Amino acid sequence: MRWPLLLLATVFYAASTVAAADNRPNFLVLLVDDLGYGDIGPFGNTSIPTPNIDRLAAEGAVLKQSLSAAALCTPSRAALLTGRLPIRYGLAPQADEWDVILLAASKSGLLPNETTLPKVLGRHGYTSSLVGKWHLGISCQRYGDHCHHPLTHGFDSFYGIPMTNLKDFGDDGEMLYASAYPNTFPICYALMAGGVMSALFFCRRSRLLVALSLALAGAALLTALFFANWKILSSLIMRDEQVVEQPMRLKGLAQRFVAESEERLAAHARAGRPFFHMHSFCKMHTALAVADEFQGKSRHGLYGDSVLELDWAVGRILHTLRRLGLDRNTFVYFTSDNGGHTEERGINGDVQGGFNGPLKGGKGMGGMEGGIRMPTMVRYPPRVPAGSVVDLPVSSMDLLPTALRLAGLDVSKELPNREIDGRDMLPLLSGAAHVSPHRFLFHYCKATIHSARWMEDAAHTWKVHFYWPPWIPGTQRCPYICQCHHSLVLPQPAVYNIQQDISEERPLSPDTAQYQRVLQTMRNAVEQHQAGLEGVPSQMTWWDHMWRPQLQACCQPPFCRCADPKYP
Ligand SMILES: *[C@@H]1O[C@H](CO)[C@@H](O)[C@H](O)[C@H]1NC(C)=O
Repeated sequence: MRWPLLLLATVFYAASTVAAADNRPNFLVLLVDDLGYGDIGPFGNTSIPTPNIDRLAAEGAVLKQSLSAAALCTPSRAALLTGRLPIRYGLAPQADEWDVILLAASKSGLLPNETTLPKVLGRHGYTSSLVGKWHLGISCQRYGDHCHHPLTHGFDSFYGIPMTNLKDFGDDGEMLYASAYPNTFPICYALMAGGVMSALFFCRRSRLLVALSLALAGAALLTALFFANWKILSSLIMRDEQVVEQPMRLKGLAQRFVAESEERLAAHARAGRPFFHMHSFCKMHTALAVADEFQGKSRHGLYGDSVLELDWAVGRILHTLRRLGLDRNTFVYFTSDNGGHTEERGINGDVQGGFNGPLKGGKGMGGMEGGIRMPTMVRYPPRVPAGSVVDLPVSSMDLLPTALRLAGLDVSKELPNREIDGRDMLPLLSGAAHVSPHRFLFHYCKATIHSARWMEDAAHTWKVHFYWPPWIPGTQRCPYICQCHHSLVLPQPAVYNIQQDISEERPLSPDTAQYQRVLQTMRNAVEQHQAGLEGVPSQMTWWDHMWRPQLQACCQPPFCRCADPKYP
């Protein structure tokens, strides 16, 4: 009599845990690259129709003050996946080091001892998939160890670009280095010519000097070849751990990513397990490319056409979610990694960067709203009221604690002894709370805090700027992209109530007691934050960034050229 009862109880228990597991929410992250705050309908754009994105906003919440942890791809993406500031794991470099990974064969990246959201979810029965851009590194010691690869960081499948998109990957001959440093090639050519001429000059006089001159010419030639071959070295698509396309074809890539995401979502639906799926768009980063059906269809050139294609892709993915019956129980999070690149121009001078609406500055400016305030939306019918607008500060780092909480997990148990900078934003999103989950937020440009926020109360969000970007006078732009280390220290920090002054046009007067009080509070907070940081080695030194032949991804060596047979 006792045994059958026990058996029955066990069966009930097993059935109830399975049922509970089935009820856990899915997560769908739609991460856009370089999308500007003013590019889409829910954030005030009236000249580009974005019906699918508008619908997403209407069915969920518009997060008007959603901040990324950095104004550039690599650090911002790492923070979104780990819930932690890049300074904590070496992705906030010093001074003049690059703050993004620019070469597939560099050893920089997100270290395997950092724990990402999909990794934690994976321990509890979730399946995770990534389609699109990664940009957090590939390998450490030799190609194929994949220490930084998505599959190391908790994703069960990957289709997309392990690196990033770059101007060099288009077909118009544009090059990033030549845009940022117009003298790169002329200097190389001059050094080549100078080396050869001096070799001729010394040819009867000194063998040593001839050798040195030729070495100089050779080094200049290699440098020029290196920059000219950026595309073949770093433009690639992988399926899981295999390079399937090199260089990648940009035209039609949005369509391929959508097809891949649809396949993943269908597979997740069939498996019946909860999932985390990230669709990480290759757009709006240059080189821009759109399918023929979008070409010339907007009022804003190729960039505007790309927004139309983005909206189409969002519509397709959300439609698939609905079709599969997953849309009620999926937490959809739409955001951008950093703000629109306001300086970006095409080869004919046309605007190819995003528009940041009322915000100051843009991509690359870690302390400015235009660099870090993201067009963000959340759709999750069970908890987030449709049509809500949240205008209090939240962070992209909040995704991790919020998602874990929704999955019924305890952050401090899952990630013990680890400082998590994100906070659970569910109370704010569900309407239960009316204050930001953060008290302070620190806005870094590389390893330096350029500005900070203090949420004093719902009506007062103070923002202090300690640094200002090195803008061309009379503009809000730098020559190609602002460099953190060229920023100006403000002798008199600027203080705004960003809650009421979104464009930061009315600074507090330094003579007021209010100014002194806010500045002092902020200085104390910064000091306390910095005292809590542990020194970690940078993953972004020149040594880490350096091109290493043993790390080079290359399909069909030595040609490094192949096309994915799935998409002929
Ligand atoms: C909409 O976005 C485009 C592309 O960034 C921009 O050029 C345009 O000014 C925006 N329009 C409005 C009305 O905000």
